[in-house]
Amino acid sequence: MANSPSGDSVAGRLIRVLETFTAARMVQTAAEIGRRSGLPDSTAHRIVGDLVRAGLLERDQDRRIRIGMRLWELATRSSDALRLRQAALPSMERVQSRVREHTQLAVLEQDEALFLERLSGPESGSNVIRVAGRLPLHASSSGLVLLAFGSRELQERILAGPLVALSRETVTDAAALRRKLAEVRRLGHAVAPGYVEEVSTGVAVPVKDETGAVTAALSVVLRRHDLVEATLAELHAAAGEISHALGHRR
Ligand code: PHB
Repeated sequence: MANSPSGDSVAGRLIRVLETFTAARMVQTAAEIGRRSGLPDSTAHRIVGDLVRAGLLERDQDRRIRIGMRLWELATRSSDALRLRQAALPSMERVQSRVREHTQLAVLEQDEALFLERLSGPESGSNVIRVAGRLPLHASSSGLVLLAFGSRELQERILAGPLVALSRETVTDAAALRRKLAEVRRLGHAVAPGYVEEVSTGVAVPVKDETGAVTAALSVVLRRHDLVEATLAELHAAAGEISHALGHRR
């Protein structure tokens, strides 16, 4: 692959442009993309122009750039995420209609919980995440499930810190986190009161694939002082169905 004077490959420069988009920054000017990518302005402008022509990025009336439909189309076809989402949706819909709070599906992605789906109703409470949003593993109920049932290497990497606090209740002490993970494994679910936001309690259960490995976390965001038992029963029933749809046989 042709390298630039800075040593970046063509793919490397493309990645630097695309990675300037984050969950919090979905619209940018070409100049901002240039600055944030660290590429020479002319290079960034040329790559942005090529990506806009291919439909991977889009330019609005104000000439600001956002991720294009074509990129969404390609990315959404990702077989694992699509299969998981399709297997999960019917059960997630039932959980949401009964509990009436945000119901979400997350997977492990580069040491964070990445949310593939979220179902909400008009009466659902506060929620900081959205589809394609991320949360730290130690600081969310979904993340705790993915971490507790993840590999030993993953656990040690996360326990080594830094364990950033999202709220006053987030567990930021490694020994306390170790105890919490043991509790999640023992109970088979995670309850995270106030870890993400002081007003809510996340509850999450594991979803297994055909090998029995935990492949996703299914969660509900309750009001901070809601009782968790009925929601946990709904979540466990739903996760069992989703795991079954993925080929898991106990
Ligand atoms: C959680 O998974 O614990 C969680 C997620 C989003 C929130 C609150 C809690 O807004």
